[in-house]
Amino acid sequence: MYILGIESSCDDTAAAVLKDGDTLLSSVLSSQDEIHSRFGGVVPELASRRHLENIHPIVSKALHEANIALDDVNLIATTQGPGLIGSLLVGFSYAKSVSYRTGIPFIGVDHMAGHILSVLLEQQVEFPFVALIVSGGTSSIFRVDGYNEFQHLGRTRDDAAGEAFDKVAKLLNLPYPGGPHVSATAGNGNGSAIRFPRARLEEGSLDFSFSGVKTAVLNHCNQHKQKNQELHIPNICASFQEAVVDILAEKTLKAAELQGIKTLVLGGGVSANNRLRQELKTRCTKAGYNLHVPSPSLCTDNGAMIAFAGYHKFQLLGQMEYDEDVYSRSILG
Ligand code: KG4
Repeated sequence: MYILGIESSCDDTAAAVLKDGDTLLSSVLSSQDEIHSRFGGVVPELASRRHLENIHPIVSKALHEANIALDDVNLIATTQGPGLIGSLLVGFSYAKSVSYRTGIPFIGVDHMAGHILSVLLEQQVEFPFVALIVSGGTSSIFRVDGYNEFQHLGRTRDDAAGEAFDKVAKLLNLPYPGGPHVSATAGNGNGSAIRFPRARLEEGSLDFSFSGVKTAVLNHCNQHKQKNQELHIPNICASFQEAVVDILAEKTLKAAELQGIKTLVLGGGVSANNRLRQELKTRCTKAGYNLHVPSPSLCTDNGAMIAFAGYHKFQLLGQMEYDEDVYSRSILG
């Protein structure tokens, strides 16, 4: 069985071909970083226009690299949400039209399910597990009992972790996308230099809030500028990163403890952050938990995770109706 996976939820157009739910034959991606970098963030209208130009060449390239023709495909899986509506509509409508014309079944997949399951493409992980998914659009903790069984335990109430990294980068005049630049600059700084606040919310809550730490960085910069004091950018980056990593790690381990689960999974673009990987690893080892982290190409948005999640959803539900539509907020759990 050949599964074509298509992803267009934000600013990357991606496609992949998966065979029999376990062998990845191709995975290609076209990034739009050069378009959005001069605006310091994703411009939705520009993103959807570029998806329109890219979608057919990217799908053709994925089929070509997998050495198969469209007629060989048995299932088209595509991201249905969450994400930018205009961007999602390009991949979803493309998949529907190809399915309608060829008769190949199609299925819409939740982007979060893709991130949660991506590690299973390359590692053996036993259910149930607790997953921390952190990206530019989301920060959530899930309990996962099977390929189609997700329970949302915690989510961000304002900014996503990656969004906070990107906004802090912007106010420090670092290039876009900011996460990797803040993280690289933090490597030359001291994470204990400035004590930025950790939002702990109500007792027992597994939700996150990152707008406070972002504002604290802004206030720190403004106060120093008013006093004509020089800013120590590496220390600001390291201390900000420390605050975000601390709260992500604390809540994820708390979730595992409350659920009585000893297997943890990390996913989403921010999981490329070395400090986060290192801190989670240290805390998991100390608590006797197993941590599974996918390789970097599976952490960021990609078509392979959509093909994989789509394959398992199709086993459960079969072909999707053509009147299904995209959505902007995750419907998982
Ligand atoms: O999952 P992803 O590729 O896509 C979207 O959410 O669209 O995640 C991208 C996010 C961006 O906010 C980016 O700044 C962040 O992940 N990111 C990082 C790092 N690498 C990427 N954040 C912190 N440290 C990193 N090393």
